[in-house]
This record gives sequence, C-alpha cells and structure tokens, in this order.
Amino acid sequence: MDFSARLVPVNGSLRPFPDAPASLFTPDFGQEPHLLVGREGLVSSLREGLGAGPRDPRFTSLLLGPRGSGKTVVLNHLGSLARESGWIVLPLDAGTSGVQERIIEYIGWARELHDAAPDAGAGRIERTSFRVKVLPLEWQREAVREMRPRWGLRRHLTTLADHALQHRSAVLLVLDEMQSGERPELRRLSADLQHITKNEQLPLAFLGAGLSEMKHTLLDDKRMTFFARCDRRDMPPLAPVDAARFLAQTARDAGGSFDGDALPSLAEASGSLPYKMQLVGHHAWLVAGAPDHPIDDQAAVVASREANRIMHERVSLPVWHDLNEAEQAYLRRLAELGGEGPPTQIAAGLDISSRTLGRVLAHLVNAGCVALMPGGTVRVADVIPMEGLKQIIEQENLHGGHEARSASPNAGRTKCNALMPRARARCIMTRGHAGAHRSR
Ligand SMILES: Nc1ncnc2c1ncn2[C@@H]1O[C@H](COP(=O)(O)OP(=O)(O)O)[C@@H](O)[C@H]1O
Ligand SMILES: [Mg+2]
Repeated sequence: MDFSARLVPVNGSLRPFPDAPASLFTPDFGQEPHLLVGREGLVSSLREGLGAGPRDPRFTSLLLGPRGSGKTVVLNHLGSLARESGWIVLPLDAGTSGVQERIIEYIGWARELHDAAPDAGAGRIERTSFRVKVLPLEWQREAVREMRPRWGLRRHLTTLADHALQHRSAVLLVLDEMQSGERPELRRLSADLQHITKNEQLPLAFLGAGLSEMKHTLLDDKRMTFFARCDRRDMPPLAPVDAARFLAQTARDAGGSFDGDALPSLAEASGSLPYKMQLVGHHAWLVAGAPDHPIDDQAAVVASREANRIMHERVSLPVWHDLNEAEQAYLRRLAELGGEGPPTQIAAGLDISSRTLGRVLAHLVNAGCVALMPGGTVRVADVIPMEGLKQIIEQENLHGGHEARSASPNAGRTKCNALMPRARARCIMTRGHAGAHRSR
C-alpha cells in the first residue's frame, strides 16, 4: 500500500490514516502518555530532591521496576521539568554504548542551538519549579563554548557543573536502561559522578533507571559505588482508581465514552503496569470503533484478551527467558500450587538449597514475577500472570523442555556468548535474551 498518499494534514498535524479514529492511547514503550497518572508522589519527591541540591540524597536517584512500569516516562518528565527550569539535561541510554560520545554530540548540538538563539535579556531571573534562579541560555552558552571535543568525560561534566554552580543552576544526567549498559563504561561513569557530585559537591544531578534485577548485578558491583549509593525508588504499582481515571479521561478527550461495566472492567484488567493500561485502552478503542461508538462490555472483553496476548509476547516471555533454571523451577512449582502458597510448601517440591532459595525468591520479587503477600504467602505477580505462566509451562512440556534439566541455578543454561568487542568479553546472558548483551 502506498502510505504516503494517505499522509494528509488534519488540524495542522499529519495523520497517516485520516479515516482511522484518533486514539490518544500510547500502547508502546517510552511514549509520553496523554495523562501521567499515579506518579504524583514520586515526581514531587524527586523534584524536591533535585531542587534541594547535592546534599539531598534524592539529588542522585535510581528508579527500579519491571518493563512497562513507566520508568522512561518519569525520566523524560523530570528531564523536561529540569530543562524548563534552565538546567542542562543530558539524556542518555546505557543500552546504546558510548556515553562520552553522546555527551560530545550533545555539546555540538547545544553549541549550534545557542549560537543561533538571541541573547537572553540581561539580568532576567526566573523562579522555577526546581526553585533555582536561572539566566536562561547565557550560562549554558558560555559553558558549551568553553568545552573541547578532545576532553575526557570527567572534564566535560566538571566544566558544565562548574558553570552551572556559578549561575545557581544545575546539570542533570539521565541514564535509562542501566541494566543493559556495558560494565567498563558504567564503572568509569560511576567514578566520575562520584568525584564530581559527591566529593566536589558540584551541581551535577543524576537520575537513572533500570530493571529491579540490577540490585543483584550492577548495584552489587564494588567498583560502582556511586550507583549503589544513589537513592533507590521502586516504581509504584498502578492503582485501579488511577487506571480508571486515566482510561476515562483519555477516551473522553478524544471524544469517546464507555457503556455498561466496560470502564471498571478495563481498569481492573490494566493490572499494575501502565504499559498494560495503555494496551487495554488502545484495543478497547479500536474494537469498539470509538469515537463513533461507545466502548461497551464486549469490546472490553476482547481488548483485555488482546492486551494479555501482547503482554505475554513483549513482557512475560522475555522475562521468562532471562530467568535461570532455579527461578523457572520456582515459578513452575508455584503454578502447581495454583499461583499462591507458603514458602515452605513451595520449597518442599524443589531440589534447591535454602541459600539458593533466598536468592531465587529475591530475584523473582525484584523482577516483578512474584509478590510477598501480607499473610506471608508468595503469589504469582503481574509480569508473568498465572494464565501466561500456565501457557509457557504447557509449551515447554509439549517440547519436552524442562524435564532434561535439573533445578540447579546454572545447569542446562545455554549462554548467548555473543562477542562484545568494547568490553572485550562474551555475553553471559541466556541465549535468546531480551535487550542488549551483558558481559557480567
Ligand atoms: N504514569 C503513567 N500514566 C499513564 N501512562 C503511562 C505512565 N507511565 C507509563 N505510561 C505508558 O506506559 C508505556 C510504558 O512506559 P515506559 O516508561 O516505557 O515503561 P518502562 O520504561 O518502565 O519500560 C509508555 O509508553 C506510556 O505511554
Ligand atoms: Mg524504559
């Protein structure tokens, strides 16, 4: 099909399919949502911490949570707030290597931007959401002009932070997908940030994000003490009331409406992950033919099923393949018990030492696969819900998958083994893993 022919301007913007209803849902990763819900406490606390300066522990913070919990969205939101407050924001993604190159690129870009911009009015001082007084553009212009591409990363960052200090502003380094970063590069960055922010107390703030499993990998690495000392936040699970508010307003703002019990059942189906809420809303919209028709109960049922299918492919399966044998065995055992059970009963069916069991359980909690319930039981959680877990187990049994392997943590695990030239190592992840390669 010739898509270009259908690119026609609608209300000043380009919509690829003019006859398709314009949904305001964003069923993808890293997309700015139409409405940010359930993050008020987190965002205001981080904002306060960043505004308070290097002595506040929240000035260097880490967001931990499973895929789809909304980490990238919060990073982007705070990055925008900082930028609006006149800060220099360096947005980096550890999954694509070359932190230093990206900063140099940024400086080149900022230089062009500032050279093209007119001078800001002298003496103009603004009070901003970060409670920092800034002279927009001027200090940033001075800073980037002084910098040289040949400099090392520490000198670049120190120069930016020095200029920021002189003008009572700050620099924010944002680092997403930390779990996929290459260790040598992250170690160097950790040492530089430790020196600049902690030892020199310069206004270089840090906001990182990654999967919770980092607690046992990167954040346990003795050569990355800066990251280990950052203030840690687990992404809060989405509350059904926030999901309902989001779905109702997002549909309403695009001219849609709900019928019967569709809204509460879609809010319930959203579970704890914002990504799933977006999938549920998006598919309900499409199935119902909104905004011309209200979203009814039937559309809600079909949409929930479709959202589950996509969640399974994009979230559950990659997480399952990243688990080791013992972790998978634990989940199989939990499934046998109907999805919930006391730890002793789960352990009774497994040939795993109690020390390993502790690690297995901690990892599964961090990965969002199980939750510890108030009564002390362990329950299957949203990242691989019960239905999905059953499906995976059936599939594996069908192919004679796991019988041949034992429940020891490393037995039977086939490594990816891809060559990682920058790290001078091979990838240690399980073959077919999601995300970037990892050398440690
Ligand atoms: N607080 C929120 N309110 C509404 N939608 C959200 C929220 N956080 C995330 N989303 C939506 O969920 C999707 C997944 O979020 P993302 O930040 O990419 O998750 P993560 O980085 O944790 O994998 C995004 O595309 C966004 O549209
Ligand atoms: Mg993300």
